[in-house]
Amino acid sequence: MNRPVPIVLLIFVVLLPCSSNIIATYYENDTVHDNYFKGVYADGTILIGVRFKGYPNNTISLRLIYPNGTLNFINNVTIPCNTCDPTKYNPSPLNPNYIIIWYEKSGMIMDWTGNIITSKITQSKCDKFEFVMNERSDRFLIAGYNETSQNILFAEYFINNDGTIGIKAQKNLTFNGVGIKNIIEFKIFLLGDIWGIIYKVDLEEKSEYIYNKKDAFFSLIHNESQNRNLNPSIIKDISFIGVSCISNDINYTCIYVTSYNNTLKLIDINNLTLNNTFNMRSIDLFPFINIYKFESISSTANIIHIIPEIGFLVEVVSNAKTKYLIFNTAEIDYFDTTIKSASGEIIINNNDNDYIGDNLFISNTTVIRAIKRDKSFTYESTDLTTIIPKNNLLNNIHIKQVYPSENDLIEIYTDKMNMTFLNPIDPTIPVYISIYHYHNYEDILRQKFLCTMPFCTISEDSYSLIINLSSNVTFNIPNASYYVEIEDNFVEYKYEIETVPGIKKPKSWNIYTASEYKHPEKDNNDFIIGILRLNPEGTQEFSKLDKNGRNEFFKFMKIDLSKGIPVDDSRIYKVDDIYEHDIVTDSELLLISYRIDLPGENCFNKKSAKEIYDDLNSLIRNDKFITYLDTSNYTKNIDKGYGFQRSCK
Ligand SMILES: *[C@@H]1O[C@H](CO)[C@@H](O)[C@H](O)[C@H]1NC(C)=O
Ligand SMILES: *[C@@H]1O[C@H](CO)[C@@H](O)[C@H](O)[C@H]1NC(C)=O
Ligand SMILES: *[C@@H]1O[C@H](CO)[C@@H](O)[C@H](O)[C@H]1NC(C)=O
Ligand SMILES: *[C@@H]1O[C@H](CO)[C@@H](O)[C@H](O)[C@H]1NC(C)=O
Ligand SMILES: *[C@@H]1O[C@H](CO)[C@@H](O)[C@H](O)[C@H]1NC(C)=O
Ligand SMILES: *[C@@H]1O[C@H](CO)[C@@H](O)[C@H](O)[C@H]1NC(C)=O
Ligand SMILES: *[C@@H]1O[C@H](CO)[C@@H](O)[C@H](O)[C@H]1NC(C)=O
Ligand SMILES: *[C@@H]1O[C@H](CO)[C@@H](O)[C@H](O)[C@H]1NC(C)=O
Ligand SMILES: *[C@@H]1O[C@H](CO)[C@@H](O)[C@H](O)[C@H]1NC(C)=O
Ligand SMILES: *[C@@H]1O[C@H](CO)[C@@H](O)[C@H](O)[C@H]1NC(C)=O
Ligand SMILES: *[C@@H]1O[C@H](CO)[C@@H](O)[C@H](O)[C@H]1NC(C)=O
Ligand SMILES: *[C@@H]1O[C@H](CO)[C@@H](O)[C@H](O)[C@H]1NC(C)=O
Repeated sequence: MNRPVPIVLLIFVVLLPCSSNIIATYYENDTVHDNYFKGVYADGTILIGVRFKGYPNNTISLRLIYPNGTLNFINNVTIPCNTCDPTKYNPSPLNPNYIIIWYEKSGMIMDWTGNIITSKITQSKCDKFEFVMNERSDRFLIAGYNETSQNILFAEYFINNDGTIGIKAQKNLTFNGVGIKNIIEFKIFLLGDIWGIIYKVDLEEKSEYIYNKKDAFFSLIHNESQNRNLNPSIIKDISFIGVSCISNDINYTCIYVTSYNNTLKLIDINNLTLNNTFNMRSIDLFPFINIYKFESISSTANIIHIIPEIGFLVEVVSNAKTKYLIFNTAEIDYFDTTIKSASGEIIINNNDNDYIGDNLFISNTTVIRAIKRDKSFTYESTDLTTIIPKNNLLNNIHIKQVYPSENDLIEIYTDKMNMTFLNPIDPTIPVYISIYHYHNYEDILRQKFLCTMPFCTISEDSYSLIINLSSNVTFNIPNASYYVEIEDNFVEYKYEIETVPGIKKPKSWNIYTASEYKHPEKDNNDFIIGILRLNPEGTQEFSKLDKNGRNEFFKFMKIDLSKGIPVDDSRIYKVDDIYEHDIVTDSELLLISYRIDLPGENCFNKKSAKEIYDDLNSLIRNDKFITYLDTSNYTKNIDKGYGFQRSCK
């Protein structure tokens, strides 16, 4: 972790080729004072609150952008409070077509035409309030804290078909029957049918819990619970600028920003009981230690956004560049330590945008960003589907796609492979890639090489690793199974201190060759005799063997040649062995000749003798990568330069 990465990060951050569509642009001809980018309806309509300089503090204007791009302006809505702090106005969408504006201790609700349904909805008898709506339904939740009685009052509302407001449920909660003392800050959640609250209490207060100022209590309230007790767990070192939770059936997942190190943590929660107890565990996501700075983001902004049914989009900022990280918590088990966590990322250069922070909405898998330049507001939408990390058969969520995949029946003699990553990559210190032939329950090495030039190159856009096998004999059998293994850290993230784990689980990247193969017409119907030669070392070792040893040697050499080619061992056998004087080394070297027969009915390798001859000759002459022949004790000393020569006999 001592690498000087932040500098690299700042220099190379660029606009990524994620295509954005402009969905609307409009001009505010009066100077905008505050802008509340507040949310999106289930149908995709966007709600924005605007306040103008010089206008009375108790007014707010609203803009709706419908999915068809039409804008609707609701101007000069009067807030029924003359002393309220306008910076705390909180306009929010309320499905299907209402707007709720929360203002300090109360809220008002209107419809899209500006008709006010109620101008005062409140949780009485409280000092501090929080409000949250449900993105998918017409429900909303208000919670209030009464400092005197030390209770928290929750009420969940919904809008009736006739436009009136109904109460779904309310609860008056305490902490172990004795109240909750000195809450300084809290945030609430509507998680399916469950309510959640996260709260920090004043450090001065003595408590039975040992915690520090940066810790918070987290409670869930079961919808059928008759129990008035909150049974909180403690979340360590949490910053309220980033905390969001989603529900997945019966489990809940949250992501939060730690206050000290600006790292991201994931928690998951299960087994909520009627007594409001639950199990919780947490894990660090991506180690973003001290890279991202969140100070520039307003404290009321939330930088952790929910992607419905998928997970989270986290907005991080460094030097006016905004980066969105995407976590697919629905599909990926980030607690599985065998999977190093990956996030999809989009990097946006925010230089000419006045807004950083709470300026985006998520509607299904589309991000809508508000961009302010001078007096114009532009809304751009970006589809996230291609950068959401997905579980895959490779057990490696950093990789989006490989070629060949299991579904591509490749032609034999294919010599190119590639893989595309979720995020831009850079090379690392090269590690090995190995390709195996899986045959008769045996894994036989076809090709092993260091992932560097000339085998590995990274595409210009930094998203792909292109693998050039420099040989066409690797996949040389029709209707055969192969698999690829790659060592850890074979590439690294371009903009992050993160290396990509390898593909280690055997047979996860499988490659199959097609069964159809057109054999060359010529040379099809004759056997072939070829000669190979042992190098001086091999010859010397051979010379030391007694008769039995030599017989053994030839027996295993034949077996290993047949595996390495590969060919049925019934089709290859030794014809002769003789010593020959080699002028170059001035020594006697052993020549061994082999006869390659025509394929029989039951042979898996139906190639002609000439084709087998060519394959073996290429394998022997190869000196660029490691094959099975280089790893077998019987074939490793074959003279590469001599190759496999055609005999005239
Ligand atoms: C607002 O400003 C824009 C751009 O300058 C201009 O096109 C538009 O006519 C103005 N609208 C009004 C109502 O003045
Ligand atoms: C989001 O998905 C839901 C359910 O699939 C659909 O009803 C809704 O129209 C979608 N919203 C947008 C804006 O595409
Ligand atoms: C809104 O109120 C301000 C200040 O009272 C006024 O100047 C402006 O014309 C009003 N705008 C509309 C659209 O009513
Ligand atoms: C766009 O959608 C809104 C809301 O559904 C509708 O009122 C308006 O007529 C639509 N405009 C166009 C041009 O279709
Ligand atoms: C409007 O609100 C701002 C910020 O809360 C405050 O400073 C200002 O005094 C208020 N103006 C009026 C007229 O109340
Ligand atoms: C808090 O609750 C107590 C007792 O129920 C009540 O007397 C007090 O008025 C409440 N505080 C506020 C601010 O409403
Ligand atoms: C909540 O319950 C407490 C008793 O634990 C009671 O003192 C308080 O008045 C109740 N508040 C409301 C609003 O019912
Ligand atoms: C809920 O969590 C438990 C324990 O982690 C897990 O076994 C279960 O599969 C999860 N259920 C769902 C629906 O995610
Ligand atoms: C911050 O990160 C450092 C280095 O990993 C670690 O030693 C320290 O405990 C972290 N601080 C907190 C409050 O988590
Ligand atoms: C969660 O509850 C189920 C039964 O509902 C139980 O089998 C399981 O052990 C519990 N998990 C934990 C982690 O307590
Ligand atoms: C809830 O608490 C009560 C009283 O403490 C206890 O009797 C009961 O078993 C608990 N129920 C669950 C589901 O934990
Ligand atoms: C990967 O290989 C396939 C097949 O040759 C090709 O269609 C695709 O464009 C390649 N992708 C990259 C990024 O080179």
